[in-house]
Amino acid sequence: MPRQLSLDETAAPLVPERPSLTKLREAAAGCTACDLHKTGTQTVFGEGKASAEVVFVGEQPGDQEDLQGRPFVGPAGKLFDKALEDAGIDRTQVYVTNAVKHFKWVGRGKRRIHQKPNWSEIAACRPWLDAELEAIRPRVLVCLGATAAQALLGRDFRVSRQRGVPVESELAEHVLATVHPSSILRGDPETREQEYKAFVADLRAVAKVI
Ligand code: URA
Ligand code: SF4
Repeated sequence: MPRQLSLDETAAPLVPERPSLTKLREAAAGCTACDLHKTGTQTVFGEGKASAEVVFVGEQPGDQEDLQGRPFVGPAGKLFDKALEDAGIDRTQVYVTNAVKHFKWVGRGKRRIHQKPNWSEIAACRPWLDAELEAIRPRVLVCLGATAAQALLGRDFRVSRQRGVPVESELAEHVLATVHPSSILRGDPETREQEYKAFVADLRAVAKVI
């Protein structure tokens, strides 16, 4: 088991009391609770209405998100938008965020290559996610990929085995996990269409309960 972080090693002391999403966003903009504020250009906070019935949680911002300061606006975000549309979910009605709010990367030539956040970075950032969920209190919570699923549903959670299956959780009335849209982009081109369809099918299950 990893060591439990003490509160002052996380963003917890920075979270305002009874915050609105706007207050949270402003407070998170100055977060230096973990080293990722040094690699990321800016905090990429969640986006959407406080009245959203569904919250989607990804892993962390990617290259485009880091530059634009908005979640899911790069290639994975484009695929996600299309999948939402195909599933009959209006993106303006959902809230989209990430488990970790700064971009972690290593340089390779001119490119910035995504690196998976580690457990202490996820734990450091968790108070922001908890505060978003507290402010929104969504009916439906969807984890996109293993990082979000393990952060919110436990480290034993396996997306490959449990995708699309309703999970009992105090976080929301309906909770489930599915694959991360970037895994579809990275996957074998031969099975991409099939993977995409499976992703849309998971999102249709979400559409049914909203
Ligand atoms: N991948 C994520 O997990 N989140 C984003 O915002 C973009 C890509
Ligand atoms: Fe703060 Fe999260 Fe950024 Fe770390 S990744 S500095 S905890 S906002």
